[in-house]
Amino acid sequence: MNRPPVRIGLCGLGSIGGAAARLLLEHRTGFEIVGAATKEPDAVGRPLHEVVGSAARGGPVVVGDLADVLAAGPEIMLYATGSFLRDTEDDVVACAQAGVDVVSPCEELAFPFTRHAPVAARIDAAAREGGATVLGTGVNPGFLFDSLLAAATGVSWDVRAIRGHRAVDVSGFGENIHRRLGIGYTPEEFEEGHQAGTIAGHVGFPESIELVCERLGLLLDGPVTERFEPFVAQTAAPTRYGHVPAGRTEGFRQRATGHVGGQLFVRLDLVLHLRPRSAGFETVDSISVEGLHPVNLTLSPGMDAIPATSAQLVNSIPGVLQAAPGLRTVKDLPVAAAWHDLQSHPFR
Ligand SMILES: NC(=O)c1ccc[n+]([C@@H]2O[C@H](COP(=O)([O-])OP(=O)(O)OC[C@H]3O[C@@H](n4cnc5c(N)ncnc54)[C@H](OP(=O)(O)O)[C@@H]3O)[C@@H](O)[C@H]2O)c1
Repeated sequence: MNRPPVRIGLCGLGSIGGAAARLLLEHRTGFEIVGAATKEPDAVGRPLHEVVGSAARGGPVVVGDLADVLAAGPEIMLYATGSFLRDTEDDVVACAQAGVDVVSPCEELAFPFTRHAPVAARIDAAAREGGATVLGTGVNPGFLFDSLLAAATGVSWDVRAIRGHRAVDVSGFGENIHRRLGIGYTPEEFEEGHQAGTIAGHVGFPESIELVCERLGLLLDGPVTERFEPFVAQTAAPTRYGHVPAGRTEGFRQRATGHVGGQLFVRLDLVLHLRPRSAGFETVDSISVEGLHPVNLTLSPGMDAIPATSAQLVNSIPGVLQAAPGLRTVKDLPVAAAWHDLQSHPFR
């Protein structure tokens, strides 16, 4: 096969974008990383492999602007910068208009058609016009509580209810992420932060539930609802940057529910905690499909978000390259699988 290597661009070299770059450089072939952008001033001007800590050398010198990566002519962009469409929409549109496919862990991009319909329409129009495919994916949303869950129903006779549970030890996360999630606050601050929208918890439950229901051909009665239950530390809880003092949140349970036909149909629970085991939470991921032929899946240990999400991004590349232009979701594309050489991949 004499096909040229796939030209890949990267934008956002944080935990996810950096891990995706390492995965590509260290474990995959048949592509060229033609550009990589970050907002981190210390990284600009340095070789990509050095910035992301890759054991394998390679990749371009890191730049400070997405436009410079687009100017290098990538076919596909791994765009890992933020969770919210208000922050990512314009860049995704710029890529799509330039005819560059996009794969992104942006949670709201995973299924924006109901909660952000005008944005979804804008991205879809830009993608069709530019001849590009746009996909939002990751571990959650993107895999655990949507594509894996939908696949689990493939051996069901009927589906009466769906339950999911994930508990994650977040003690290794940085302080900024803890604050964004809802860790380190007094109970009053936690409540106020939720009301004000400054504490987001996990972003992506509505997207996962809407994806699954659409895949099953079911119409939700109304918007997905979410409820938060904070866990307040009784003693100081260690983190990698110090301690969360007693009396502040060391974690929380986030419960999302979706009703169909007047009945509770999907209920997904996520526990994020600084010391889950001592609080009685096993760090596993589980899915139950209730019905005549029930399906129960447990992943133990539960999936680590960074390697799992970066792998989903990289492994989605062949399916995205092959897909028809437009804004797509994981339910439209073949389930991502670990490829080795992009040049010889049959999907290309
Ligand atoms: N779908 C899923 O399952 C899943 C799983 C994990 C993470 N995520 C989401 O994926 C996103 C990335 O995660 P992460 O852990 O890698 O976050 P992160 O460590 O904060 O990295 C994001 C990086 O992107 C940079 N950035 C922001 N805007 C940029 C722009 N316009 N151009 C270039 N770089 C830009 C940031 O720089 P500054 O810090 O200087 O702004 C930061 O270095 C997050 O929103 C996260 O919630 C989704």
